[in-house]
Amino acid sequence: MRVLVIHGPSLNLLGGRQPEIYGTQTLAEIDAALLNEGENLGIEVRCAQRNGEGGIIELLHAARTEYDGVILNPGAYAHYSHAIADAIASIGVPVVEVHLSNIAGREPHRRTSVTAAACAGSISGFGADSYLLALRCVKKLGGK
Ligand code: DQA
Repeated sequence: MRVLVIHGPSLNLLGGRQPEIYGTQTLAEIDAALLNEGENLGIEVRCAQRNGEGGIIELLHAARTEYDGVILNPGAYAHYSHAIADAIASIGVPVVEVHLSNIAGREPHRRTSVTAAACAGSISGFGADSYLLALRCVKKLGGK
């Protein structure tokens, strides 16, 4: 089974970016934990980060033929990108949305995710563990 992890805008700055909200782990550390958990679960994991909406959509389209599941942290795009939601709905590959922070308990503009509505499910509020939990969920969804 192959799973693509897509990190959205400004997640490349993790570690130093508002650590009181997003924690002190860097993106490289989160990716290493994902690869390690993937090995434990028998999943081949690839991680990518894009700051732009178009770049995220291109990766989702490519996942159509190359991956059995996707884990996506759309960052702030979660709250308004109908274009990413459409891409998720178009690819026929299960997508699990993750957020490091608990978006339901944050500022009003972060409490809605238009992209999560197009996903199989979402996990929010557990820091890097949100991603690791999502890996287990994608495995259960069983791929294409
Ligand atoms: C985030 C939550 C978003 O509201 C924010 O814009 C991010 C990170 C999270 O992982 O908690 O960039 O997606």
